[in-house]
Amino acid sequence: MKELHDLALRCHDCPLWKHATQTVFGRGPSHAPMMLVGEQPGSQEDASGEPFVGPAGVLLDRALQEAGLERGQVYLTNTVKHFKFEQRGKRRLHKRANAAEQAICREWLAAELREVRPQRILTLGAMAAQAFFGTTFQLTMSHGRWLKLAGGIDAMATWHPSSVLRSINRDTHDHRYQQLVDDLRAFVAGPQ
Ligand code: URA
Repeated sequence: MKELHDLALRCHDCPLWKHATQTVFGRGPSHAPMMLVGEQPGSQEDASGEPFVGPAGVLLDRALQEAGLERGQVYLTNTVKHFKFEQRGKRRLHKRANAAEQAICREWLAAELREVRPQRILTLGAMAAQAFFGTTFQLTMSHGRWLKLAGGIDAMATWHPSSVLRSINRDTHDHRYQQLVDDLRAFVAGPQ
């Protein structure tokens, strides 16, 4: 895993490395039975080199705790390993990685899967869900449901913590947060 991480730090396979500070590779036990896959690093992750250290990470930690899980027990990674942004004055505005950038970066995710060999995978947000379940996958319809991946891995999709944070009002926020916690609980319990 260390070797893989070092290689990823030098990745120039797509143009995103040029403006990002560093590659944000996955973290956690190298043979964790559970893997969580987010979308792409934000500004704080770019600065620290670790996934989910910004506001989305704070919410994720809270939800994990409510579901009886700790970050240190899971391997936590992203679909895309570099921060993509648009500079506006001093601000760096998050931009979604395009399909080509996502496809190129999927090689790293595939390598992490081969190394960690998790029994269960939980995807956070649409980008990660579609990387595993295809581009027609819809979170609204199918979050919280167990699916089987090649190799017998049990997988489930849930909301991205950022989408909870971006909710338009308090009710939507609370409802979506509760769905995230419920999905995490189902994920911890495993397929019944
Ligand atoms: N959002 C993600 O999908 N991943 C991170 O690491 C941070 C925010």
